[in-house]
Amino acid sequence: MSEMIEMIRLSEWIAKDRSSEEIQRQEMIDKLLSSFSVERNADVERFAHINAIPYEKANKGRTYILVDADMYPLGYFTLGLGRLEYSADIPERLWKKLRGVGDGDATVLSCILLGQLARNDGISYGKLPKGFLFDQMLSMVYRGQDILGGRLLLAECNDDVIGYYEARGFRHLYKNNNNGLNQMAMIL
Ligand SMILES: CC(C)(COP(=O)(O)OP(=O)(O)OC[C@H]1O[C@@H](n2cnc3c(N)ncnc32)[C@H](O)[C@@H]1OP(=O)(O)O)[C@@H](O)C(=O)NCCC(=O)NCCS
Repeated sequence: MSEMIEMIRLSEWIAKDRSSEEIQRQEMIDKLLSSFSVERNADVERFAHINAIPYEKANKGRTYILVDADMYPLGYFTLGLGRLEYSADIPERLWKKLRGVGDGDATVLSCILLGQLARNDGISYGKLPKGFLFDQMLSMVYRGQDILGGRLLLAECNDDVIGYYEARGFRHLYKNNNNGLNQMAMIL
């Protein structure tokens, strides 16, 4: 990790009890998350402002925040568990490859889910080098895989970032009609 960048685990900042010390600690991270600005994606911004702490408390995901030496937020990402549903848009051979061994008639595959990924608006490459956020995210994915397994990394994204993910090894599978999000998968 760059000397100037630190990765905070949100789970370590969640209040463990109702003591004022613990509550103050959580409030501090809440404030930091609330300061995120992601103009290009309102959902990703809203997640930082509203959902990240409840999700962390409910163990629905793990959020990691990159900050500089002054605790200024540079970017964040959230990982969790997800499911990839079969679609007739996925060629049979590709579905087999995604499935790996076993699960012959599976129509849903378990995945590691990349729930959120965002660079804070206005942060220069001098402060957060290009590719750094993605590499940190992937290294945490591999740490999780090392402990629990997991064959696929799933990202659900808007149309504008399809190219971004494809350039980094994801494959576009289909667009989910229910939520309008593209299903992008990487075999780990
Ligand atoms: C997607 C995002 C996290 C990437 O951040 P990053 O890894 O630090 O990458 P950068 O923003 O520095 O961009 C790196 C490269 O990807 C390209 N890229 C970034 N966003 C892109 C997009 N939406 N579509 C296509 N290419 C994109 C950049 O142009 C740049 O290309 P280059 O190497 O040819 O110059 C950041 O652009 C962002 O916060 N976007 C808004 C939130 C979002 O949509 N998140 C993804 C869905 S959860």
